[in-house]
Amino acid sequence: MAGGSSSFLALRNSFSDLEEKIKNCQRCALYQSRHQAVPGEGNRQAELMFVGEAPGREEDLQGRPFVGKAGELLTKIIKAMTFTRDEVYITNVVKCRPPNNRTPQKKEIMACYPYLQEQIELIKPKVIVALGKVAANFFVPGETGIMKLRGRFYDFQGIPVMPTFHPAFLIRNERDRTRKRMVWEDMQQVMKLLDRQ
Ligand code: URA
Repeated sequence: MAGGSSSFLALRNSFSDLEEKIKNCQRCALYQSRHQAVPGEGNRQAELMFVGEAPGREEDLQGRPFVGKAGELLTKIIKAMTFTRDEVYITNVVKCRPPNNRTPQKKEIMACYPYLQEQIELIKPKVIVALGKVAANFFVPGETGIMKLRGRFYDFQGIPVMPTFHPAFLIRNERDRTRKRMVWEDMQQVMKLLDRQ
């Protein structure tokens, strides 16, 4: 019992240290234009982790991940999977907003890489969902598009990763029911792995 609570405290301290490092980070030029860095939020012992691309306008202002339109859709997806936002952990590959929401550059991804790596090591999720191409290519290096990558698990340091379409892409292609159905099929595989079906 004592060991359990002391390791919980150690986890809390490591997490707080990491969040502080992210909030004060100046490892790439994005710190110059950000309002706030967005470390991530949710259950620090989550079984399920969602990883997006980078904060957008709303996220940069609030300091929280996925709180804009794409976030609303992600929240619906999480609920449909029988989870709440509090039960899962949500973060991004890049922790600061790229100007005008452009795609993060390779050097920005490389500068930010250790933060996501450390988050994964601390949380030790059972499954990771990679939202969109940037996140998918973080876990499955290369330039393969999301259409090809989605729909099956990849191994990342012993953790199964399911790439799927980014919620913002679903919003941009609202009439495309096929893509929505594909995301749901991908999430059902994730639920099955977590005994949620
Ligand atoms: N898109 C992302 O990839 N991440 C966010 O936090 C918000 C929108």
